[in-house]
Amino acid sequence: MIKKAIAVMTSGGDSPGMNAAARAVVRTAISEGVQVYGIYNGYKGMIDDDIHELTSRSVSDIIQRGGTFLGTARSMEFKTPEGRQKGFQNLQKHNIEGLVIIGGDGSLTGGSLLSKETGVPIVGIPGTIDNDVWGTDYTIGCDTAANTIVDAINKLRDTASAHRRIMIVEVMGHTSGWLAVMSGIAGGAEYVLIPEVKFDIPDMCRELKEAYDNGKRYSIIVVAEGAGSGIEIGKQVEELTKIDTRVSVLGHIQRGGSPSVEDRMKASMLGEKAALAIISGASDVVFGFNEGKVVSINLFDAVNNTKTLNPELIRLARVLA
Ligand code: F6P
Repeated sequence: MIKKAIAVMTSGGDSPGMNAAARAVVRTAISEGVQVYGIYNGYKGMIDDDIHELTSRSVSDIIQRGGTFLGTARSMEFKTPEGRQKGFQNLQKHNIEGLVIIGGDGSLTGGSLLSKETGVPIVGIPGTIDNDVWGTDYTIGCDTAANTIVDAINKLRDTASAHRRIMIVEVMGHTSGWLAVMSGIAGGAEYVLIPEVKFDIPDMCRELKEAYDNGKRYSIIVVAEGAGSGIEIGKQVEELTKIDTRVSVLGHIQRGGSPSVEDRMKASMLGEKAALAIISGASDVVFGFNEGKVVSINLFDAVNNTKTLNPELIRLARVLA
């Protein structure tokens, strides 16, 4: 059992719903009579002792906001054992006996190393729009980001149809095509190009040309950034099809915005679970969702395995195109 204090931090790329998760951690800890600190600006803040006590009021008026009120960063220093020791000393200085980390793969890897080297209890909450953390169907922010992309596709569809164009939409996802596939299915895209599956641009262009010759007015092609540059693919497509082609790179717009109900709810549920777990003395677990239910995953399994994209989704994207 933790008697003194826990801390909560966000790390890596922000995602909509991180605030809801941190809020749930803070309010659960306080209702359990445990002091709670916020570590500001990720692992950098842990090293710099940017650590401050939080109250219930500190997390008012944030559930509806994207980003993270705690700030986030990518710290090179924390990748070294010396950096992690510095961070650990600052945790000890504040009598912090357990840490809840909200972040993606890289952030949870940092937590697993800290736990291994110092023994500080760590509980993780997966937070990234990429939905690429092993062992969980869901990571905080993926739903809002997918909705943002679908909203953009709806708008691009209007103008693509008006001009009989091909519209390429580049979305985030360096190694994971989850966002591309989800938004491709929900946005009714003709093609979804992802890093996990080989594709043949000349083949696709032949099909597109044939469809336009038969009266098709427009096409939407969603490209995950890890599958190639939307701009380069757009050039190739226009050259091979001779059909007017435009490219929209959605970029960091996908990371912002007010979190969806799903992200707020799931983040709140995971935040409560994580706080209760760390207070009760658990360590090296990540809380996620599997088939709609909260599950706990071993932290080392989560960071040492690579999540694969559900082949059913890939198939569905193809069938419905
Ligand atoms: O990991 C989340 C993510 O949004 C990726 O999809 C994207 O490739 C990357 O972060 C962008 O990172 P940065 O904010 O450093 O540009």
